[in-house]
Amino acid sequence: MAATLAVLSQKGGTGKTTAVRTLADVARRVGLDTLAVDLDPQGNLSDYFDVPPDAAPTVAEVLAGSAQAGEAIHDDVIPANLQLAEVELALGGKMGRELTLRRALREVAAGYDLVLLDCPPSLGLLTVNALVAADHALITSEAQYFALQGVEQALEVIELARESLNPDLSWIGVVLNLADMRTVHSREAYAQLAEAFGDRVFETTIRQSIAYAESAERGISILDHRPDLGADYLALAGELFDRLELTEARARLDALAGEPAAKR
Ligand SMILES: Nc1ncnc2c1ncn2[C@@H]1O[C@H](COP(=O)(O)OP(=O)(O)OP(=O)(O)O)[C@@H](O)[C@H]1O
Ligand SMILES: [Mg+2]
Repeated sequence: MAATLAVLSQKGGTGKTTAVRTLADVARRVGLDTLAVDLDPQGNLSDYFDVPPDAAPTVAEVLAGSAQAGEAIHDDVIPANLQLAEVELALGGKMGRELTLRRALREVAAGYDLVLLDCPPSLGLLTVNALVAADHALITSEAQYFALQGVEQALEVIELARESLNPDLSWIGVVLNLADMRTVHSREAYAQLAEAFGDRVFETTIRQSIAYAESAERGISILDHRPDLGADYLALAGELFDRLELTEARARLDALAGEPAAKR
């Protein structure tokens, strides 16, 4: 049975989609069968994975109840497009609206080791669906002054999901993304998070670099486009696999990296 991980943040542009894409890349390279699910009507994750724009059905049909999740898997990705925005609105008036994704994914999760859910940049119904379907929630935070408030708001939604519909949901941690640890700014953001949340903050920070935009544009994983930067995601995956107790994957990752994935 797969471990299902939702990646969320209170605001946009914190590197969620890049994290889902790259963590899926790492997981697949160490042999974990990994399903990536796009829950953002912007469809960025689907683009990153080069899913054809006319691929159908998508997650929209799955949430609308007109397709099974299994039918919506295209090369281990369940894509999204703008139609998802309409479906989200329609879902708002339905009973059990928070449970739709959980029910839909149940049949396919068994065939995977890891399911990664890419949430949209809001804490609305789609993100709640992800949190109700997930075993674990990973928060990404931009390295800026309001990082702490953003993480606190995301945590409130995690808590709501836990109290109401998914008591087993665990908060696996928060990763500081788009960071430049040479600046006081990023270091202060990290220190604030570490003071508030202790070891829930991943030691690994993901460095900010223009190479990520290039890598997205060219459709090449950062692991191949800039392995020196991709090392951040190998290290993050190492910490994540430890927290998920994916011991074998962790060992294979160390072999892949040539040494124990360095902590930074
Ligand atoms: N470590 C990084 N350094 C610099 N730029 C990055 C980094 N990671 C991602 N980016 C770029 O920042 C932009 C936003 O990244 P991404 O789409 O992953 O964020 P997001 O949180 O999913 O955004 P949204 O909230 O809109 O869904 C993209 O152009 C991406 O290429
Ligand atoms: Mg995104």
